[in-house]
Amino acid sequence: MQTHSMASISIKTEEDIRGMRVACKLAAEVLDFIEPYIKPGVTTGELDRLCHEYMVNVQGTIPAPLNYCPPGYTPFPKAICTSVNDVVCHGIPGDKVLKNGDAINIDITVIKDGYHGDTSRMFFAGEPTIMAKRLSDITFECMWLGISKVRPGAHLGDIGYVIQQHAEKAGYSVVREFCGHGIGKVFHEEPQVLHYGRPGTLEELAPGMIFTIEPMINAGRREIREMGDGWTIKTKDRSLSAQWEHTILVTETGYEVLTVSPGMPPPPAFIQKTSDQPITAA
Ligand code: MF3
Ligand code: CO
Ligand code: CO
Repeated sequence: MQTHSMASISIKTEEDIRGMRVACKLAAEVLDFIEPYIKPGVTTGELDRLCHEYMVNVQGTIPAPLNYCPPGYTPFPKAICTSVNDVVCHGIPGDKVLKNGDAINIDITVIKDGYHGDTSRMFFAGEPTIMAKRLSDITFECMWLGISKVRPGAHLGDIGYVIQQHAEKAGYSVVREFCGHGIGKVFHEEPQVLHYGRPGTLEELAPGMIFTIEPMINAGRREIREMGDGWTIKTKDRSLSAQWEHTILVTETGYEVLTVSPGMPPPPAFIQKTSDQPITAA
């Protein structure tokens, strides 16, 4: 999401952190729930209906996207975002039928007891193409490389730098117009978490900050275009785009990934080998 203010980054209380652990785990569990339904022949509208019903009737959560209306936008009409193939982000669920090989990002934000949990994953209908699988895998590694930089004293630019380096080394490009964001009782708050940049620049991290890391990586050029629905963002050159998202707490010693669930893909091997940080919430 885009933000423009220059307010300082809030430090969450212990009570806030407890609430965020719950909301974030519930958001991840919606992705676990929907995965078996993502098959050729299903519509994005049906995926939205299933998630919406699960959130409201099983979890007792509120889908944050529904009627979400940042300044300059029209209210988002659905409960989840479904971004297929060359859709970068904010795809609106509808009549689109998934076909074999389609790549889809499903982005879930739930509200529980006033706290927001925000996470997204890539999925494939049927068998992925080699190209789409590679783009998704590199984007997943970009997210985790960014996460691996999170600790007190690090700077936001450290996160953007490793993401951009990894994406561009693979021949891909980083979307500039959308970024990660602070999150808590508010869906999108300070700071902006850019997915490109230079080490040692931008804000210094401190324990108790919570923000998302959610790189959008294009197989082709980085430029985007907005569709007439006021929300859907596509690549300008129609190349494939991928995105993964976690919500992260800065701890005293590093990070805690809050959007954890039994069905989440495990971190890449380089995380297990080089980090002693917990990735699972208590
Ligand atoms: N979940 C998205 C994010 O990661 C925001 C979606 S806004 C919506 O920031 F209104 F499109 F849902
Ligand atoms: Co999201
Ligand atoms: Co987000």
